[in-house]
Amino acid sequence: MENLCKNLCKDFKEGKCEGQKVVDGETMPLVLQPPEPNKGDLESLLSALKKNKDWFEQMIIKNSAVLLRGYDVKNAEDFNEIVETFGWDDIRYVGPAPRTHIYKRIWTANEGPLSEMIYYHHEMVLIKECPKKVILFCETPPPEGGQTPFVPSFRVTERMLEEFPEYVEEMDAKGLKYSFTAYSKDNTSSMRGRGWEDALGTSDPALAEIRAKALGMDLEWLPNGGVKTILGPRTLTKVFEGRKGRRMWFNTVVGMHGKELSSATMADGTEIPEEVVKRCEQIIEEESIQFNWEKGDVVFLDNMALLHGRRPSLPPRRVLVATCK
Ligand SMILES: [Fe+2]
Repeated sequence: MENLCKNLCKDFKEGKCEGQKVVDGETMPLVLQPPEPNKGDLESLLSALKKNKDWFEQMIIKNSAVLLRGYDVKNAEDFNEIVETFGWDDIRYVGPAPRTHIYKRIWTANEGPLSEMIYYHHEMVLIKECPKKVILFCETPPPEGGQTPFVPSFRVTERMLEEFPEYVEEMDAKGLKYSFTAYSKDNTSSMRGRGWEDALGTSDPALAEIRAKALGMDLEWLPNGGVKTILGPRTLTKVFEGRKGRRMWFNTVVGMHGKELSSATMADGTEIPEEVVKRCEQIIEEESIQFNWEKGDVVFLDNMALLHGRRPSLPPRRVLVATCK
């Protein structure tokens, strides 16, 4: 570790950002800046990353979030080069959010209406294989709002255990069941607006069922051409290798419980009390960390350790994303 720290001193300078917190001894996010003002160009950044690849990956796991700030990262092409430096495999997005492919491994982040909050989630938490890293790049910072807040997931479990130990252990033992209703065609006025044809890449119901099965979902067709997706059992909490044995709040109960288009119950059908879900929502907000986007910012989130979301924003805002195994 000591050698690795020497690398930090030479190739990066640790910075600060507003909203940073220290959680269990770690600064979140860790802010890394050019070591000297003339080392902020893309070439210098790429060579610093190449040289310190393993160290950088360890920092993502140690601090859960790493923010590169003060570099001249201009567009999707530059961002793609940064992502490709690490050699991590790409993982394709599966889910309800409307997204557009931009360049090689780069996509737009959720294009749902900027006026709405995108609720906190681990990326693709309900899919069998979800990304280990979510990497975001800010091309156009919003004039107001539009932050990407994130939450150390283990803190949610810890605090829920303090207040509702029996419920937490019951939900954890039984597992959870979710349902989600998708329209037939894309509805871009909603952030969950992808129709099932687009989400599953086919308009053939039989093929859609096969693909859904492979992702661990069952489909129930609705008379209006939409489909109800049923998932479960799924975990409440999960412990991942290398993350200090922390129990991550690896579920989407608050996001899906008691909504118009979605539901969450225990896997045996037992209801989850409204007050437990409401309190969990408050805890998540209290544990939230956020910084204001600056042009050229690139942030690496450990998707095993953090929930993330998006605050309502004034336009314009352009944040691009890559997801990696
Ligand atoms: Fe996300």
